[in-house]
Amino acid sequence: MDKILINGNGPLNGTIAISGAKNAALPLMIASMLSEESLILENVPRLADVESLIRILENHGVDYRVEGKRRGKSGMSGRTIHFSASEIVDTTAPYELVSKMRASFWVIGPLLARMGEARVSLPGGCAIGTRPVDLFIDSLAAMGADISIDHGYINASARNGLIGTRYRFPKVSVGATHVLMMAATLAKGTTIIENAAREPEVTNLGECLNAMGAKVSGLGTSTITIKGVEKMHGARHRVVADRIETGTFAMAAAMTGGSVYLQGVQPHLLQTVLDKLVEAGATIESDNGGIRVSRNGSALKPVNITTEPFPGFPTDLQAQFMALMTRADGVSEITETIFENRFMHVQELARLGANISLDGQKATVTGVENLKGAQVMATDLRASVSLVIAALVAEGETAVNRVYHLDRGFEMLEEKLSACGARIERIRE
Ligand code: UD1
Repeated sequence: MDKILINGNGPLNGTIAISGAKNAALPLMIASMLSEESLILENVPRLADVESLIRILENHGVDYRVEGKRRGKSGMSGRTIHFSASEIVDTTAPYELVSKMRASFWVIGPLLARMGEARVSLPGGCAIGTRPVDLFIDSLAAMGADISIDHGYINASARNGLIGTRYRFPKVSVGATHVLMMAATLAKGTTIIENAAREPEVTNLGECLNAMGAKVSGLGTSTITIKGVEKMHGARHRVVADRIETGTFAMAAAMTGGSVYLQGVQPHLLQTVLDKLVEAGATIESDNGGIRVSRNGSALKPVNITTEPFPGFPTDLQAQFMALMTRADGVSEITETIFENRFMHVQELARLGANISLDGQKATVTGVENLKGAQVMATDLRASVSLVIAALVAEGETAVNRVYHLDRGFEMLEEKLSACGARIERIRE
């Protein structure tokens, strides 16, 4: 398996173009199944998860076509992909495909809405906690679906169509909000989702659904209303910039010092994160094209964070922020409230010399003066990239093994960092 070698060196300086968000691209691709006409998605990142989902959609009968490069576009720009689900030929999403990536479970929404049936394997994906699917089952059942579980599969049917309802999620779930919103677009009557996720990726999906003829309102608030329509049509839609990738590079810039311009970013989509970086000693300047993150000379200050649903501090940036805090001048506390087992990076950061103690959902990080390169690996995407951030300032060489996880969610990571002066290379094995 490939590994990434990093030699800790000086500050990062330069410009990084931020890619389209993985977590927006995946539900948008799934939404293509709601219509017989083509959904054209712009700014789709080149990621292993996107390729996995293409395989799953193909199995349901979705054709896709990648547009060739256009004048003025660089190899770093996202791709434009046409998805066409003129006929759904299979309503089963098999274990072999779904177990690779949890989000593929979300096909249950469009399949049920358009075809009145779905048989979807229980999901796999990142090893971060048990990640149940009770909220999906409960909310789809509230819309009139008959649901049973056998042999590791969820069987859902609604032969006469789904029926609009008022449903309150007992807990905020990004995925369950995506699925219920998609399912409700073709339901009879109006669906009101309470305690809906407010993540920008949910808003991005809702805007795409509206472009396809749906009637979704309340996006970005915790109450989303969907008036069912008979049919959805084709549309063209752009994947929003990746706020997690943005936050990751912002933390890398803050960690190494220097000054990095992150292009194509909407700062309000990660304001909580930027505020924490300023508290930690970084300077953030924004203009219409993006944000500049700098730290020149000042020490990193310890800052506490607690992960929360949007607009709180995202769990997907918790590991990276912890990496940053390993070099802070003092003690910080990092509390994870979204997933129960999302501290696998702690023992690997310790291999680089970090001083972190764990107590349930809280990690206490005592900053150290120096990190030292070592062999490390991680079993989840965001944890892997936290090791890259630490390695950028560690003395000597760090080898990050199992980079498969990085490829799932970071487009051209080595290219983007090395363009800013990092000494990072991939060893293909
Ligand atoms: C999405 C993101 C992931 C991010 C997470 C939280 C994608 C592809 N993935 O994952 O990167 O870390 O949001 O921001 O967009 N839960 C239940 N029952 C359910 C569903 C969820 O208890 O039926 C729990 C989960 O175990 C977790 C919490 O709800 O504790 C939030 O998870 P959720 O928002 O659903 O995460 P995902 O949509 O899977």
